[in-house]
Amino acid sequence: MKPIFILNGPNLNLIGEREPEIYGVATLAGIEQSLREQAAKEELEIVFRQTNHEGALVDWIQEARHAASALILNAGAYTHTSVAVLDALRALSLPVVEVHLSNIYKRESFRHRSFVSPAVTGVICGFGARSYKLALAAIVEILESSASATRGLHA
Ligand code: DQA
Repeated sequence: MKPIFILNGPNLNLIGEREPEIYGVATLAGIEQSLREQAAKEELEIVFRQTNHEGALVDWIQEARHAASALILNAGAYTHTSVAVLDALRALSLPVVEVHLSNIYKRESFRHRSFVSPAVTGVICGFGARSYKLALAAIVEILESSASATRGLHA
């Protein structure tokens, strides 16, 4: 099984320090560690990355086309601005979960619009660090049900 890519966009390297009343006190390294443990229990591998650069995010989403079995994406502020991220996602044929720590619909109106959502399988937001755990659990279920459907086809 190819790894699950978990990609993080701008300023997410600062969570834990940045606006903790909105994003919580968990650091990105702490989230990565707990996802590694969660994935290991399912015997899955993860690739966990963060960038402040839109082009790098686009490159990694393109890389996921052949290197990943699924994608979890927190595009940070690019969620609300990036047609390039949307287009890269449209070129993927993998399960994709968009995640946000905060409930973007409870916040400023410019955050209510996601350029990412039209190209993803589902969205999880507002649960803090738990949003990532829920996203990984959703991906595990999706991958398991598609593996059992494939087994059924070959039975
Ligand atoms: C965020 C929400 C975005 O609006 C914001 O720009 C971020 C983080 C979240 O995880 O809640 O950087 O994606």
